[in-house]
Amino acid sequence: MSEREPEVDPTGNGVATATERAPPIRCVGLTKRFGEHTVLDGIDLVCHEGETNVIIGGSGAGKTTLLRLLIGLEKPTSGRVEIEGEDIGPLDEFELNRVRRKFGMVFQYAALLDSLTILDNVAFPLREHTSKGEKEIRRLVLDKLEKLGLGERVLDLFPAELSGGMRKRVGLARALMLDPKIIVYDEPTSGLDPLTTRTVDEMIEQARDIFGVTNVVISHDMSSTFRIAHRVHVLVKGRIVASGSPREVVNSERQDVREFIEASGVDLTPFRGG
Ligand SMILES: Nc1ncnc2c1ncn2[C@@H]1O[C@H](COP(=O)(O)OP(=O)(O)OP(=O)(O)O)[C@@H](O)[C@H]1O
Ligand SMILES: [Mg+2]
Repeated sequence: MSEREPEVDPTGNGVATATERAPPIRCVGLTKRFGEHTVLDGIDLVCHEGETNVIIGGSGAGKTTLLRLLIGLEKPTSGRVEIEGEDIGPLDEFELNRVRRKFGMVFQYAALLDSLTILDNVAFPLREHTSKGEKEIRRLVLDKLEKLGLGERVLDLFPAELSGGMRKRVGLARALMLDPKIIVYDEPTSGLDPLTTRTVDEMIEQARDIFGVTNVVISHDMSSTFRIAHRVHVLVKGRIVASGSPREVVNSERQDVREFIEASGVDLTPFRGG
């Protein structure tokens, strides 16, 4: 955990005061059905600014669907998603693109383009969305990479020449290129060995610490969750059944929440009690 702690809600009760900014993400009664199948069932969720929020749930719980709703790739069946206080439901594609620029996405398996160098991969958003010159682009790319512990020597390499952990850092550098406020990670540690998982956890923490972003991590990795989360949101059968600090969630009064967490076999002793 870094030295800089997230902002604390001054009222302590989650009620917005006049001077308080709207949270980066708020879902209210968010429901998504595909035909007869209710995937998300009345989700209330707040992701606070400057925190690492982990949304955890089993296979098919609706995690990716929730993520797609957050960035406006799907419309809710009912309820709403607010990004920095703005209900994105009524927005058209043009306006949604403005909202999407507040997000950086780190995809599963980093999703780099194999035929492009690291420079070209990371530069991609700048070339798509800005008219900056090559020299400036190279400087900006290198700046992000260096802050994430990668140097000039990786610029001309191809993704296949990097380790899994390095590829994740490159994916994050690309996600940061347009200086988003929120970074969303879909299962960032799935398929990684325990050591690489730890370095990815550190990377997620650094993103918050160095770039001041709000992290939203979609995960089914319980040990990783309890290493990085300020706030854990537990998604079971399309509902958020618990939201709170790791300690609050581990000590939840709900049996289904405790069972879900304990089934992972992670040692939760440090979070017990209190
Ligand atoms: N476009 C769609 N049309 C119909 N059903 C869908 C669609 N997208 C998702 N679903 C269904 O919604 C449910 C939740 O899917 P989702 O991918 O959100 O789960 P997940 O929690 O991300 O799972 P995983 O851990 O496997 O990634 C699944 O039963 C899936 O089949
Ligand atoms: Mg998924």
